[in-house]
Amino acid sequence: MSQESPSPSDQLFDSVDRNVSASEDTGTPEPREKSVPEPKKRKRGSSMLAQLTADADWYMTSFSGPESKTRDSSVKFTEVKEKLREEIKIHPRPAQNKDRPHFPRPNPLKREKKSPPKRSTDGSVKAKKPSNGETKTAKPSNGGLSALLESASYFTSLGSGDTDSFLRRVKPKIEREPSPPPSPIVKKKAVIKNTVNGLIKKSLKKASPHVTKSLKKELKEPKKEPAKDTKVSPKKPVKSSVAKIKKIQGKALEKEDPVRTKESTPAKVEKIIPLFVSWSDNTEIPIGNRPMFLDEIYKGSMINTIDNDVLVPASELVYNNQDAYINDTRFSEIELATPFSSFREKYTLQMPKDQQLNPFEEIGRIMELVAYTYIPEPYRLQVLNLNRVDDCIVGKYIKAVENGDGDLVVSLVNEYNAILDKLRISGEIFKYTANLKTFPLLCFHEILNQCYSRSVSPNSRKLRDYKAFSNFVYGELLPNFLTTVYNQVGLNHTHRFIDLGSGVGNCTLQAALEFGAESAGCEIMDHASTLSELQLKEFEQRCKIYGLRTGSVSYFLRQGFEENPDVEDYVNKSDIILVNNYLFDSELNQKVVELFRGLRVGTKIISLKPIVPHGYTMNLVDLECILNRTSYVQYSYDDNSVSWTSTGGIYYISTVEKDIIPSYFVEHSVGRTRGKKTMTPDGVSRASTPSQG
Ligand SMILES: C[S@@+](CC[C@H](N)C(=O)[O-])C[C@H]1O[C@@H](n2cnc3c(N)ncnc32)[C@H](O)[C@@H]1O
Repeated sequence: MSQESPSPSDQLFDSVDRNVSASEDTGTPEPREKSVPEPKKRKRGSSMLAQLTADADWYMTSFSGPESKTRDSSVKFTEVKEKLREEIKIHPRPAQNKDRPHFPRPNPLKREKKSPPKRSTDGSVKAKKPSNGETKTAKPSNGGLSALLESASYFTSLGSGDTDSFLRRVKPKIEREPSPPPSPIVKKKAVIKNTVNGLIKKSLKKASPHVTKSLKKELKEPKKEPAKDTKVSPKKPVKSSVAKIKKIQGKALEKEDPVRTKESTPAKVEKIIPLFVSWSDNTEIPIGNRPMFLDEIYKGSMINTIDNDVLVPASELVYNNQDAYINDTRFSEIELATPFSSFREKYTLQMPKDQQLNPFEEIGRIMELVAYTYIPEPYRLQVLNLNRVDDCIVGKYIKAVENGDGDLVVSLVNEYNAILDKLRISGEIFKYTANLKTFPLLCFHEILNQCYSRSVSPNSRKLRDYKAFSNFVYGELLPNFLTTVYNQVGLNHTHRFIDLGSGVGNCTLQAALEFGAESAGCEIMDHASTLSELQLKEFEQRCKIYGLRTGSVSYFLRQGFEENPDVEDYVNKSDIILVNNYLFDSELNQKVVELFRGLRVGTKIISLKPIVPHGYTMNLVDLECILNRTSYVQYSYDDNSVSWTSTGGIYYISTVEKDIIPSYFVEHSVGRTRGKKTMTPDGVSRASTPSQG
């Protein structure tokens, strides 16, 4: 693409170039030295300030445009950074005293209560505030600087062991709250139960179709519940229906006791037992005509192709990182059965001192998810009974772990194993699974997390071996965000997908697993390429464990996507392309555009920086340029969508159109941008984008 005057977007990318030269060398050998100017030598002592100044310069320029770049150079960035870091620290954990071999063992499930995630009185995590669709990064305000510092701290601390990206991938831990003292309203429960049940049934009729039949049934049948039990609907299948139910319950209680104040109502709404899985985040994905499961499932035969030697069992993670775990002799090793094969995963039951993989939590999550997904009733209720959590295996397991009763933990897991063995031998589990019409999103995300925790997390330190603010900066798009954006572009099992700059392969694997797409990735860095290979091996085995058929996965590793005929060939046949070009310099972004010259009509590109520069005007000398036929919409993503910052940001979906976009003919005046309004993924705020112009 050639343009007479640089667009704001070009200036933006150029500013990245400028600051690359101002940034410090991390000492890492760079495979693409030619594109990265040598860093300028600075006096000792001022280098940190210079780095921060450069980072801030880049950040502010990126988001506010050059004209709005204002900075008070007297600000002591290091001080501000420390202060802001303090502000943004989430759930700091107390330092462990390594010198004391036997310090009091913290209750594994009752973690320290420091700023727990916001929960309503019934234990549900509060729904995220919906994004209003406004661009959130317009001015170099304190918030912007805060975000910069946070992202800088991420980029420099990735892989350091305590703030690595795995932590950002896993959902915030559910803090377990002590049971409230019995409320007087409990006594009234029996009286109002019928009213509530009637209302619940009504609300369920209106509830989302994602609520599974069996779950509906369970919610409809609290009759079996003993009077002492205060729970009506402990599990929250879908936010909306649960919110409705809670409202209904509140109203019913109010009706029963009109003198009660509004403030006292929530405390008396029946408490939801906190389980390991955050069920309110679940969505049931319709299977439709996608071949979701392996042939063995449909044939009712065992899966015999799981390779024990390839899989990294959870016990190995504990074994290889023993200092990070509390040696508690009350717990030992156990094996967890899997639904479709005789393979059992080994777990060493030790509590992590920090944020490493928690075997207790993972076992709990797996038992819940497997019961919910694969186990037919009545066996499912033995494992997970939402109306009688105290009486099911998961509920007892929670208590046994809380009480430090290692023997009981083992016998409960064995009970769960025996149920799976029985169902596998009888063939029931195959039949049940083969007839599923939907599959839970959380199960996909659990598998992805398992793969990541075995292959990437233990080896993530080296991923930060890159030059600051270079093309090789590593950062990740997180599973929830990818689910949203892949749905937006309509990714499905008939599609071909590629991630340009695929890192350790997360986006590629999620496209193959969750959407069944034929997926590829291209990654230039050696270590990230090695981790892609490791993660793929783990992925293949774990998908078999869960009986899932995925789209095929292939990689172009240790090679750049630019001027690469093999990649270009794949790209040309792709339906959906992802390029996390958040920190690509202008030269590399130009190469991306060149790579797109042969895209088919209808191809969609997801990017973090615009492919078509804001205010792009057609170059009449180059009418064939793909940008002339590429429309785009700018969207905002929510907080906790990417690994390098916890705040939201902007992304783009571009579409290759058949015809030239008329608005690109319009003369572009510098400083004015078109199509800059931002939409939320659900289309809250419409953008006047070139595609609509
Ligand atoms: C920010 S990471 C994105 C990782 C992953 N796509 C994600 O979004 O989770 C960008 C990746 O692009 C890779 N990269 C940079 N230049 C590249 C090139 N020319 N060819 C292939 N990969 C490249 C980097 O090494 C890095 O792993």
